[in-house]
Amino acid sequence: MSENQYAISEYHDADEINARLKELVGQPLHPIRRDKMEEYLRYFDTKCSRSKAMTDEAKTIIPGGVQHNLAFNYPFPLAVRKVEGAYMWDEDDNKYIDFLQAGGPTVLGSNYPPVRDKVLELVRECGPVTGLFHEFELKLAQKVQEHMPGIEMFRMLGSGTESVMAAIRAARTFTGKKKVIKVGGAYHGWSDQMVYGLHIPGTRTFEAKGIPGSASRHTQEFYPNDLGQLHRRLIANRLRGGTAAVIVEPLGPESGTRPVPFDFNQQVRELCDRFGALLIFDEVVTGFRVGMGGAQGYFGVTPDLTIFGKCITGGYPMAGGVGGRKEVMQRFAPGIGGTGERAYIGGTLSANPMSCAAGYYAIEEMERTNAAILAGRAGDRLTRGLKEIIERLGLPFVAYNQGSIVHLETGAVMLLDVRNPVKLLKELKPRKHMMEEMGAAYMSQGVVTLAGSRIYTSMADTDEIIDEALNRFETVLSSVEGIA
Ligand SMILES: Cc1ncc(COP(=O)(O)O)c(C=O)c1O
Repeated sequence: MSENQYAISEYHDADEINARLKELVGQPLHPIRRDKMEEYLRYFDTKCSRSKAMTDEAKTIIPGGVQHNLAFNYPFPLAVRKVEGAYMWDEDDNKYIDFLQAGGPTVLGSNYPPVRDKVLELVRECGPVTGLFHEFELKLAQKVQEHMPGIEMFRMLGSGTESVMAAIRAARTFTGKKKVIKVGGAYHGWSDQMVYGLHIPGTRTFEAKGIPGSASRHTQEFYPNDLGQLHRRLIANRLRGGTAAVIVEPLGPESGTRPVPFDFNQQVRELCDRFGALLIFDEVVTGFRVGMGGAQGYFGVTPDLTIFGKCITGGYPMAGGVGGRKEVMQRFAPGIGGTGERAYIGGTLSANPMSCAAGYYAIEEMERTNAAILAGRAGDRLTRGLKEIIERLGLPFVAYNQGSIVHLETGAVMLLDVRNPVKLLKELKPRKHMMEEMGAAYMSQGVVTLAGSRIYTSMADTDEIIDEALNRFETVLSSVEGIA
C-alpha cells in the first residue's frame, strides 16, 4: 500500500473509535433542543413549498411519496432540480452543500461536465442501449483490471444488489458449497438472501418481511470484528456441506460504520483459505472512492471476487459489476445454448454502452485529476473540523473518516446491539427519530447528508466549501440539549 495513492491519509485506530461509539450508545440521547428544532422545521414550512406540494401529490401514486430509500427525509422529501459539483438546488431554488453525492458514486463531484459531454456524444451516436456488444464494455473491463490486477475477468451488471446475487451464485457453483457468511449489520443490497442481519447485527430475519425463511436458510452472520465467531461458523459449516463464501465490506459494515482494524481483511482472507471458502469484497462504496486500486489495493488483500457499483459508472445508471479470479468468473459465460456448471445471470439493460462509457470516462477523469485523493483530503479537513467542534462543545458525538467517507455519529442508531434487547427495543425509535431530526436540521442550514450521519465528500469540495459546511454543522451541533 502506498499512502499517497489512496484517499485514506492515515488509517484510524478502529478499537479506539469502536470504544467511543460504544460509550456514545451507552449515554442518554442528546437531541436538538425543542425550541431550536421548531425553528429548523419552520424552514421547511416557509422555504420548501414546491417540494412539499410535489411530494404530497406523489404520495397518492408512489408508495411513501419517493422511490429511493435515501430520499425519505424528515419532515418531507426535498424535490431536487439541479446538481453541480459540490452543490444541489431544490425546486424552491434553495441551494445546499451536497454531501450525499447521490449516495457515493460521484467522486468527481455531481454532474461532472467532461464525463457528461462524452456520455452525450455516445448517446447521440448509438443511443443508451443496443442489446449487442459495444467497444466500451471491453474498455471499461480493461480499465478496472489495470487498477485492480486481481480482477482477471469482469462482468458488468445493473446494480450492486444484482452483482452480489451473481457473485454468490458463482461462488456456490464454483465451490459446490451453499453457506454464505456476512458481517451482521452490513448492507449488501436487498436480495432475498442478503436481507438478513440488516443494519443492526444479530437481527437475522427481522427486516425480512415477504421473504420466506428458506430463502436465507444458507445465509449466516458474524458479529462485526468477531473473527472468533467467523472461525466457529466456518468450522460448524464444514459439517454441513461447507461455506461457499464470506462477504465483507473491507472498511467494515455500512461503509465503515463499525470500523475494522487494518489487519481484519487479511485475517478473513486467511480463514477463507483455510476453509476453502471464497472471499468476496463488496466494494460498491469503496471501489475507486478509497483510491483507484479500491480497498483491496489499500489493504493489499486480493479477494476471489469483487462487487462493484456506484463509482463503476461515475454516477450514471446502471451501476454494477462482478470481477475476480478467472476460473470463478468463467462460470458466468453466457449464451442461450450454454449448459453445465453455469451460474445464470442476465439483464436487458446491463452492460449497456452508456453505462460502460460513463464508467470508462469517469475512471479516466479520476486518474487524470487525482479525484479520490482530493476528495479524501476534503474528508480529512471536514473530519478535523467536526472533531474540533464536538470537543469544544463537550459533546459525546463521534466523528471519523476513511478518506472521503465521513461518519458523524450522534444518534448512533446502527450501533444499537441485539445482545441488549431491552435497550434495543426501547431506544430504536427515539434514536431513529433523532437521526431524522439531525438530518433535517443540517438540511435547514443548507447541508445535505446521508441519513443525518454519513457524508461523502468529492473532488469539488474546496477548502472554502468545507469551512462553510463546518460553520453550518456548528450551528446545529450548538443547539443540542446540554449545550449552554
Ligand atoms: C456496500 C453496498 N453493497 C451493495 C449495495 C447495493 O447496491 P445497489 O444500490 O446498486 O443495488 C450498496 C448500496 O448502497 C452498498 O452500499
